[in-house]
Amino acid sequence: MSRTRSLIELEHLSADEIAVFLKLARRMQSGQPKPLLRGKRIALLFYEASTRTRVSFEFAAKLLGTHTSVINATASSIEKGESLVDTGKTLQALGADCIVVRHPSSGAPHVLNRNLQVPIINAGDGMHEHPSQGLLDAYTILRHKKSLKGLRITMIGDIQHSRVVRSNVHLLSKFGAQIVLCGPPELLPEHAGALAPGVKVSRHIEEATRKADVVMMLRVQKERLAGLRLDANHYIAHYQLTPERLKLAKSDAIVMHPGPMVRGMEIQSEIADGPQSVIEEQVHNGVYVRMAILSICLGVQ
Ligand code: NCD
Repeated sequence: MSRTRSLIELEHLSADEIAVFLKLARRMQSGQPKPLLRGKRIALLFYEASTRTRVSFEFAAKLLGTHTSVINATASSIEKGESLVDTGKTLQALGADCIVVRHPSSGAPHVLNRNLQVPIINAGDGMHEHPSQGLLDAYTILRHKKSLKGLRITMIGDIQHSRVVRSNVHLLSKFGAQIVLCGPPELLPEHAGALAPGVKVSRHIEEATRKADVVMMLRVQKERLAGLRLDANHYIAHYQLTPERLKLAKSDAIVMHPGPMVRGMEIQSEIADGPQSVIEEQVHNGVYVRMAILSICLGVQ
């Protein structure tokens, strides 16, 4: 048993540290699950809606032999006004060995981490990061491509409000990928190019998809638009992934989406369900990656 640790963001992890998660996820996928964390208690504290992330953390935790409890903001004392830190302390006092948290405010997992002793795993905080998604996306790419180095990876859509993009950009740039961010000015500020080394900004989906190895589509984060009105028809005309636009990418390019998808908005069904799509595989891989995350964060590998 080694030391426990939190997983808050990928930005400050080294490529070597990230590789440890990816390697363990491969081991998790290749063998029968072992109850490595038998008897541990995992609290899943969700202040925002979630399907894939919550269920895959829960399945991952159960496959490792833990007891899990899901706390939803709308069905707990959080509704009665209990603060984030008090809720975290309550879970810790109840014997939680680890808290997985999703929160609409960037930095919420940091706050818990500063105030509690148990490891904290960020399951998405506001517009900041979504490290488990970044790890499962890299893991999925590596099941189709030999290495991340030199790959042209294009992300299209609501870059501004996407924590998935931030985690992906930080991870992929550490491994030498060329990243292209594409979207309308109101969803992709020019300074996004400074997020990490090797990041380019493009306003044109045709330019962005050309010769891409990976095309990652993103949902418009309606809940974070803060009054910004977007013309859906204009968005669809300029930023939807259509078969014609996908043809510009390399013939062996893969199409990804972190979900939830809005079919007919950012992506056409023909592509989402087509031969280049690895969208369901991303969801499937999420369980192994989260088994690896839980094991590493709880110090049992
Ligand atoms: C993403 C999220 O919550 O940030 N979903 C996910 O966890 N797979 C993306 C989104 O909500 O659009």
